[in-house]
Amino acid sequence: MSAVSIAVGAYLVASLLFILSLAGLSRHESARNGVSYGIAGMALALAATVGLLVHDTDETLPLVLLVVAVSVGAAIGLWRARVVAMTGMPELIALLHSFVGLAAVLVGWNGYLYDEGLTGSLYRIHSAEVGVGVFIGAVTFTGSIVANLKLSARIKSAPLVLPGKNMINLGALAVFAVLTVWFVVSPNLGVLIAVTAVALALGWHLVASIGGGDMPVVVSMLNSYSGWAAAASGFLLDNNLLIVTGALVGSSGAYLSYIMCEAMNRSFISVIAGGFGIEVASSGDTDYGEHHEISAEEVAELLADASGVIITPGYGMAVAQAQYPVAELTSKLRARGVDVRFGIHPVAGRLPGHMNVLLAEAKVPYDIVLEMDEINDDFPRTDVVLVIGANDTVNPAALDEPGSPIAGMPVLHVWEAKDVIVFKRSMAVGYAGVQNPLFFRDNTHMLFGDAKDRVEDIVRQLSDIPQQASR
Ligand code: TAP
Repeated sequence: MSAVSIAVGAYLVASLLFILSLAGLSRHESARNGVSYGIAGMALALAATVGLLVHDTDETLPLVLLVVAVSVGAAIGLWRARVVAMTGMPELIALLHSFVGLAAVLVGWNGYLYDEGLTGSLYRIHSAEVGVGVFIGAVTFTGSIVANLKLSARIKSAPLVLPGKNMINLGALAVFAVLTVWFVVSPNLGVLIAVTAVALALGWHLVASIGGGDMPVVVSMLNSYSGWAAAASGFLLDNNLLIVTGALVGSSGAYLSYIMCEAMNRSFISVIAGGFGIEVASSGDTDYGEHHEISAEEVAELLADASGVIITPGYGMAVAQAQYPVAELTSKLRARGVDVRFGIHPVAGRLPGHMNVLLAEAKVPYDIVLEMDEINDDFPRTDVVLVIGANDTVNPAALDEPGSPIAGMPVLHVWEAKDVIVFKRSMAVGYAGVQNPLFFRDNTHMLFGDAKDRVEDIVRQLSDIPQQASR
């Protein structure tokens, strides 16, 4: 059997492992297996690719370059994955997407510089692949860099609003179409440079135009773009595995973006088109009045008297790593006969399923952790809601203020409960940069400080309240 047939067989098995991986990742129970399949598929794909290169090459330099590149890349990847905090995951993912985009641009340029003597229609198809591959790769590259900068708060998450932003995006697409046709008819360096420049600028503008509240969709959309960029590289390199894997990532990322748009009541087309049709919202200088503070001791007393409590965690719980004392508080309250449940917003935190992972880590039983739609009608029958480090996901402005940047986004109706306790360190705004009128309502009490410290204070205070006196 030839080395090529062995590599093709290995690629086929790796593709199947990637499909099994995606299937496994779709459920809690099988997620660990899904990750193992993915690792096995990637190891097999790498081994087959390296094996093929070793077999085909007589020279030492390409092999040395390969070993150095793989070793340096693997060392940096291992180090980053070990040190990254869970809250930093989305920005790391965005950065990794930018590498896929950059790789696709380099593969495209390589395809132009070394066209392997193709002629006639084959050469024209090859040129079209180069143009499209470079375009998708460059859009992904700069778009992912902007996403990384926004998610790591190195640039403002507010949308960039250039005059005629929709026309800029549409114009860039039209220019790309013209340039690609030109490049296919007469492939030359100047046109390829122009395609690259237009795509780099478009990627930057597309993501810069999208506001903070829509960033979850942007990250999954860039995930999808990076898949299509990899698939385009697969065509250029004549590599079936890259085509299959790229298509898997591209389509699953697009589907995830679609699901997230549905959950956030956003138009899918509008978000992938860089906020197309979304009007700029008012700056929101409304005076909502005074907020009311509460102490941990008073919260402990409220909880001890409650019969139903809902906890709605958000990004601040992750920052404070408050999930462990939250789990302890939950079990103490349940031991006192209080009905405690969690309400999870689909984009709470900074990555899909963020809150579920943290709560599972702290061993909170799955059956009391409910999705937003499952719990939203129960707030009017609830005595106390603990909003732990959540802000945008519990903001009534999404329903009451049509001019708000988060208008239309479904939120947890926490304000319908008897008492709402908000755990945060200050009156600062949430990720979308919007003030939250919830904090000023009469039944809302602000408990300032680090969420972990405050929950621990409540747990301590609760132990001092005798159970019989509490009910
Ligand atoms: P956010 O709106 O991000 O608000 C988090 C709140 O936590 C802040 O108001 C902050 O207030 C507080 N906080 C931070 N550190 C804290 C600490 N140590 N102790 C106590 N409080 C702390 O949270 P959210 O409600 O979870 O909403 C998520 C937002 O992120 C949405 O806008 C969503 O669109 C966006 N986003 C989500 C994702 C995904 S996929 N989930 C991805 C990217 C972006 P202080 O500073 O005053 O403490």
